[in-house]
Amino acid sequence: MSLKLGPLTLKNPWLLAPMEAVTDVGFRSLCGSLGASLTFTEMVRGSSFARENRSTLELVDTYDEQTATGVQFLTKGPDELEKTLKKFFELREQPSFAHFRNIKAIDLNFGCPNPELIEKGLGPAMVKRTAKMEALFSALAKTVDSHDPSIAVGSKIRLGLNQREMEFKVASRLVPAANANLDFFTVHAKHAGQRGSEPADWKELVELRDHITIPFIGNGGALNATDARRMLKETKVDGVMLARGAIQNPWVFRALAGDGSETPTKEEVEAAWRDYKERAQRFHTKQKYLDFHEENFERLIKGSLNSRLD
Ligand SMILES: Cc1cc2nc3c(=O)[nH]c(=O)nc-3n(C[C@H](O)[C@H](O)[C@H](O)COP(=O)(O)O)c2cc1C
Repeated sequence: MSLKLGPLTLKNPWLLAPMEAVTDVGFRSLCGSLGASLTFTEMVRGSSFARENRSTLELVDTYDEQTATGVQFLTKGPDELEKTLKKFFELREQPSFAHFRNIKAIDLNFGCPNPELIEKGLGPAMVKRTAKMEALFSALAKTVDSHDPSIAVGSKIRLGLNQREMEFKVASRLVPAANANLDFFTVHAKHAGQRGSEPADWKELVELRDHITIPFIGNGGALNATDARRMLKETKVDGVMLARGAIQNPWVFRALAGDGSETPTKEEVEAAWRDYKERAQRFHTKQKYLDFHEENFERLIKGSLNSRLD
C-alpha cells in the first residue's frame, strides 16, 4: 500500500511525527528500519537556521540516507521562509552539510502549542490567517521546486488556536491553498488548547477529507497499530502519523508494516538500544536524547507498555 507525496513515493501510509527532543537520527533510523515510511526531524526555527545558529543547524541531523526523512521548519512569514530555504540549499552544497542532501521532504509547522510561540502569533496562531498561509504555502512550493523538485513539500496544522476557531472551521479555509501548492497536508485533529490526554476529534478529519485533493495525513490519538488502522479506515485519510505511540513502542511500525509482532522481545529491544547508542556516538547526538530514550528502552526491556507521557 504505497503512498505518493508529489515526487516522493512512500512504501506504506505509516509516518513518524516530528517531535522536539525526541526524533533524533538514531530514533528516526530505528522507526524507519521497523517500517515507518517517512520520518521527520524535530521542529527547526527558520529564523535561527537562516542565521546559521550552530545548535539549530545541529538539529538537522539527517546523516542516515537509508531512512526517508523530512525536515520541519517553524516560520513566521514568506520572507523569512525564503531566507531559510535559500540557506538550506546553499549549505547543502558544502561538504560539512552534505547530509542535508538526504532530506526528502520539507514541512512547515503550525501545530506547536507553546504559549511563547502563540504570543508571537506563530504556530497554531497562524492557522486562521488564510492569506498569509497561502503566501507561505506558495513560497514553499515555488522555492523548493526551483532548487530541487524531487523534494516533497507539506504542512502540519492543528484545527486552530482554540475551541472557537475549531468551531469556525478555520482549518478548512486553508484547504484550497494546500491543494494548490502542497504535496501533502497533515492535520493534528485538535486545537492548540487541547492537551495530550484529551481525545483527538477524528470527525474533523472526516469533514476535511472530502475537500482535500492532495495526500491527507491524519494525526492525533493513533497510539498503537489498532488505533492507526482504525484512523485510516474511519476517516479515510491517506496516511497516519504517529507520535506518542512511536515513543512508547517503535515496534508499532513493524506491526503496521505487516512485518511482525507489535511486542518486541527483550533481545530485540536490547539490540535496538545498542544500535541507537552506536549511532548516537557516531553522529554526536546530545546526551538529552540518550537520556530520554534510555528510559523508554528500559521500560520496553522490562516488557511494560505503560506510557510515561500523557
Ligand atoms: C515530545 C513531543 C514533542 C513534539 N514536538 C513536535 C514538533 O517538533 N513538531 C510538531 O509538528 N509536532 C510536535 N509534537 C506533536 C506531535 O507531532 C503530534 O502532532 C501529537 O503528539 C499528536 O500525535 P499523537 O497523538 O500520535 O501523539 C510533539 C509531541 C510530543 C509528544
